Amino acid sequence: MTQAMDWQGGVGRAWAEEWQRTDRTFAQLTPALLATIAAMPGHRVLDIGCGAGELALSLATARPKGAVCGIDLSADLIAAAQQRGAGRANVRFAIADASQWQDPAFTPDLLVSRHGVMFFADPPAAFAHLAAVAAPGARLVFSCFRAPAENAWASAMAGLVPPPAQPADPRSPGPFAFADPDHVRAMLAGWTDLVFTPHDFDYLAGEGPDAADQALALFRRIGPAASALRQAAEADRAGIEQRLREVIAAHTRDGKVTFSAAAWIVTATKA
Ligand SMILES: C[S@@+](CC[C@H](N)C(=O)[O-])C[C@H]1O[C@@H](n2cnc3c(N)ncnc32)[C@H](O)[C@@H]1O
Repeated sequence: MTQAMDWQGGVGRAWAEEWQRTDRTFAQLTPALLATIAAMPGHRVLDIGCGAGELALSLATARPKGAVCGIDLSADLIAAAQQRGAGRANVRFAIADASQWQDPAFTPDLLVSRHGVMFFADPPAAFAHLAAVAAPGARLVFSCFRAPAENAWASAMAGLVPPPAQPADPRSPGPFAFADPDHVRAMLAGWTDLVFTPHDFDYLAGEGPDAADQALALFRRIGPAASALRQAAEADRAGIEQRLREVIAAHTRDGKVTFSAAAWIVTATKA
């Protein structure tokens, strides 16, 4: 479970410091997401949970006559996005909770997100709010992970620590909360015509001569291994890191560290 306070604190800070590596993990997903978005009309684009801004910046380039606003809970990520977008006239970034954000001067007609909508504490309320502040007929396009079993970047880490006595609810806020389309349909209050398109890709954790070190640096900060390391007793950390190195070695081939990943690209229209 990843909560708002995690993103506002250390998890958001880690993503802000590691944005080059996290963008790379999505490198084979982003073109498919952008291609889906490219087919949608819209001039005022809202990027929900924009993180360090790669999607918003790409859309600002793709729609030079449009305006893009990226919002995120994390001040650290918004600072990183603002730095990347400095000097760009048609994109801006703001710290905001998407479930409460509104700007009377900016009514979005295209709402997008790369993996930023699975963390709402109350998804139906958040999506109903986003529909309420969106223009009539607005489109929504987002990506989210499918089940952990289809995502080796997460399932391969399962053996790093003993499983919890009480398994977490897979639908609680977190990377896999939107794995089940039936659940997503029930969560998307205010949106209709939902279409789920599967997209399988390689999650690239490291490449080049120091690929394994890059992957290690990523997983120490981001994802399930980072969470296991944060929660572990000091005496257990070296063992977890050793097992992490073994997992990375098992996924290294031809100078690349890759893990299979599986996402949905979901499209919807304001009801
Ligand atoms: C997995 S990260 C993805 C970040 C970015 N979209 C990317 O692709 O790199 C999820 C993002 O959603 C943001 N987020 C989570 N809940 C949010 C909320 N209620 N309002 C705004 N942003 C939120 C987090 O702060 C985080 O930056």
